[in-house]
Amino acid sequence: MKEQLEKIEIEALEQISLATDLKHLNELRVTYLGKKSTIQSLMPMMGKLPSEERAAFGQLINGVKTRIMTKVEEKQKELEALELQRKLEKETIDVTLPGKDFRAKSFHPISIIVDEITNICLGMGYQVEEGPEVESDYYNFEMLNLPKDHPAREMQDTFYINENTLLRTHTSPVQVRTLLKHNGVGPLKIICPGKVYRRDDDDATHSHQFYQIEGLVVDKNVTMADLKGTLSILAKKMFGEKREIKFRSSYFPFTEPSVEVDVSCYACDGKGCSICKGTGWIEILGAGMVHPNVLKMSGFDPNVYQGFAFGIGVERIAILRYGIDDIRYFYTNDLRFLNQFSKER
Ligand code: DAH
Repeated sequence: MKEQLEKIEIEALEQISLATDLKHLNELRVTYLGKKSTIQSLMPMMGKLPSEERAAFGQLINGVKTRIMTKVEEKQKELEALELQRKLEKETIDVTLPGKDFRAKSFHPISIIVDEITNICLGMGYQVEEGPEVESDYYNFEMLNLPKDHPAREMQDTFYINENTLLRTHTSPVQVRTLLKHNGVGPLKIICPGKVYRRDDDDATHSHQFYQIEGLVVDKNVTMADLKGTLSILAKKMFGEKREIKFRSSYFPFTEPSVEVDVSCYACDGKGCSICKGTGWIEILGAGMVHPNVLKMSGFDPNVYQGFAFGIGVERIAILRYGIDDIRYFYTNDLRFLNQFSKER
């Protein structure tokens, strides 16, 4: 039996070393070590041996099995490496072939405007903050000086998840979230671009979902002049160096005083045309000085800190910039529309 095993081992090791591919190697493994192999068929013999020979026989047979197995594993590694080598040689890249035509597609007009405004603000030292679209009533309204029965809530009806959770109606709750993070210590200077929602019947100028960019600056000695200077730079960068802005008084519960900001018409230089509806001015955003109640509720002392804030409607800017006549084009994924915009941001 010992001789038989030695013979098998010699034969197996030789056959394995001659194997030329993985399939062949696997067949050899089955032949020499599989259930029906000679070695396996010798196993039951062990029981028939006198007990003093059993251990030696066991060692012998296991030794043979291990050496064959080791050889199979070595060979497998060798063949795998060879196969990879072969594959690599066969699959070399012909760098002289002309490349495939990956046409650079255009960016979405909303993304272009968001990026543009973000970059201008980053240049003025703002940081970008984000907040959740599923927001609490508390941050979306209460903390912005809009208690439960406030009439200004009427204009911002939205989709409710439950009584206290809703799809945010503006990016202004990010003001609250940021203020709270700063624990009553300024300065802070942030913008927040993002999606907002309202319960609206969609038409050419209304959508139940749109984009805003919120701005907030809180520091000591911040005045309306800082707000005007900032928005003036923004307007010039967006609509051209010759643009001027003007404030019209307005009302937002979270700012006092509040203003509506107009930019002089870029199409007619303020003379009056169809774009500015003959007025020479185009409304671009809402803004104001942060209401002392808002500062107080979020842990800032309004006797020490002041702030200004603004909220830009992104679609409105894109509509003006590109002369788009229906807000719904932004969301219907029509390639004839989307492909018209710049490939660069
Ligand atoms: N949140 C306002 C809206 O959606 C826009 C706005 C107005 C934001 C004035 C501001 C602000 O930060 O100061 O109608």
